Amino acid sequence: MSVAIILGTRPEIIKMSPIIREYERRGDDYFILHTGQHYSYSMDRIFFEQLRLPDARYNLNVGSGLQGEQTGKMLGQIERVLIDEKPHAVLVQGDTNTVLAGALAAVKLHIPVGHVEAGLRSNDRRMPEEINRITADHVSDYLFAPTGESQRNLRNEGISKEKIFVCGNTVVDALFQNLSISEEAIDPLKELGVRSGGYFLVTAHRQENVDDPGKLSDILEGLERVATEYAMPVIYPMHPRTKKMMEQFRLQAGPVRCIEPLDYLSFLQMEKHAGLILTDSGGVQEEACILRVPCATLRENTERPETVAAGANILVGTDPGTIMEGVRIMMERERVWQNPYGDGTAGRKIVEIVGLVDDSIAEGGRT
Ligand code: UD1
Ligand code: UDP
Repeated sequence: MSVAIILGTRPEIIKMSPIIREYERRGDDYFILHTGQHYSYSMDRIFFEQLRLPDARYNLNVGSGLQGEQTGKMLGQIERVLIDEKPHAVLVQGDTNTVLAGALAAVKLHIPVGHVEAGLRSNDRRMPEEINRITADHVSDYLFAPTGESQRNLRNEGISKEKIFVCGNTVVDALFQNLSISEEAIDPLKELGVRSGGYFLVTAHRQENVDDPGKLSDILEGLERVATEYAMPVIYPMHPRTKKMMEQFRLQAGPVRCIEPLDYLSFLQMEKHAGLILTDSGGVQEEACILRVPCATLRENTERPETVAAGANILVGTDPGTIMEGVRIMMERERVWQNPYGDGTAGRKIVEIVGLVDDSIAEGGRT
């Protein structure tokens, strides 16, 4: 019996890490298939090292490319690995092209697919991630929905309730497993010369924001206004996509301090001690909410509405005026909300449920 864990990008490595650790702890048969969608040291290898994850058995080194080109390359190569390895189940996590390719390759080989973080919807089909989520959900056999809201989204699309398991989000497990390790080991605030509560933290890399010169320069102007009004440093660990687009559009970041992407342990502490986080990242919206740090999301919509409902997050889009307004609102907000993403046991629950799939195969019946 073996399980194939397919991953390829920074957030998948982080959010799959609790599941990988659980398989290691149990000594079960599993292997990691890395598509190579992310490949820079700071977007990939550093997380394996820091989270002490075993090496991938396969790395397809697919790299960057157009949506279809990148997904197509992965699809063909994943299929070949799955034919050779014949795993009893495949796990994918999130909404990237890696997820789409992994889920499609597996389902066509009649291998049961478990989709971790199922049922999220922005209801914005212009996002490549929304297409990936919907497709992965509809071809998967086991949908690990983080919240009741994501379960409802799946039910509203006609997915039967027997396939859906509300488990919480493994982002909580990863955060709980690593925050105190981080606090004992390193002091990124000292390294960056900032004090707790005395800076803004930014991440923005979403295609619809940073590939558009107007939106990217609006975001930078909004950040400049925030830095000036609060006279606080704005620290922006910059995703390589954003760095590339800044260079292409010849944009300057003004007073914003752009730095290389951070390792996970440093980033967690930078989140925890930020006065406020501005982001268009999915995982960062969740982590801000869990850490009780106010968040302003640089988008018009979110597939994480639980964070907004909890009072932890506000949607500000990319207009400099609405960014400023949202920051003012959130800086005043009392940090009393509850984390909607579970108690940090999602990884264990998911592995247990996948184990039942294996058992049903062993007994000669696949559901
Ligand atoms: C991808 C996901 C996105 C996720 C993000 C996590 C899709 C459609 N998008 O976006 O949902 O939020 O990962 O970070 O799957 N690059 C490097 N080094 C790397 C990786 C990328 O330099 O290791 C640069 C390349 O210039 C590349 C660009 O970033 O063209 C975009 O990379 P890509 O994987 O296509 O999309 P992301 O923006 O990373
Ligand atoms: N992250 C990190 N270093 C950084 C920025 C983000 O380790 O400089 C982590 C963050 O803690 C979160 C994940 O990366 O767990 C989010 O990934 P990303 O924003 O790339 O993808 P998304 O969640 O938007 O798909």
